Amino acid sequence: MKRAVYPGSFDPVTFGHIDIIRRSALLVDELIVGVLVNHTKIPLFSARERVKMLQDVTKDIPNVRIESFTGLSVDFVRKCNAQFIVRGLRAITDFEFELQMAQTNKVLGEGVDTIFLTTDLAYAYLSSTTVKEVAYYGGDISHFVPPAVAVRIREKIAAAEEDENRT
Ligand code: PNS
Repeated sequence: MKRAVYPGSFDPVTFGHIDIIRRSALLVDELIVGVLVNHTKIPLFSARERVKMLQDVTKDIPNVRIESFTGLSVDFVRKCNAQFIVRGLRAITDFEFELQMAQTNKVLGEGVDTIFLTTDLAYAYLSSTTVKEVAYYGGDISHFVPPAVAVRIREKIAAAEEDENRT
């Protein structure tokens, strides 16, 4: 059985991620989207919230499963009995870091190969970080994320602003 893991922060999932998920799911029998619980970063959404949003936006793709993980991606890949890691490449600026990561993972993962998919041109500029920034300043994020995710982002930001006003 061909299995791949698409690891990432997905804070939050964007149309760019969804495009990579859809296209890579066509290449393997099972695709596991791994949501990193990163203790060195403070995410906008908890891992549970990120998993839930990913489940909602991929529910029509039968061979996709969403899980959270901690630690090294290759250890998660091994735990899933997967042979491949999937990553999206938006631009040449992504390449250097992604190549280094793929080579490190190949050594650590004893042969785990990384499959790179080039991001659809329509989403080549897109990142979770810019989506959050646009949302913080009240901009329109409907081009970047599905409606349900946009609602969750606005709720989060409104809650954070309320907390700030209280202190
Ligand atoms: O969506 P992101 O933040 O670009 O994803 C980066 C991610 C999660 C794939 C990367 O940071 C990662 O694999 N982290 C887990 C720790 C790890 O395995 N590090 C070694 C990679 S060289």
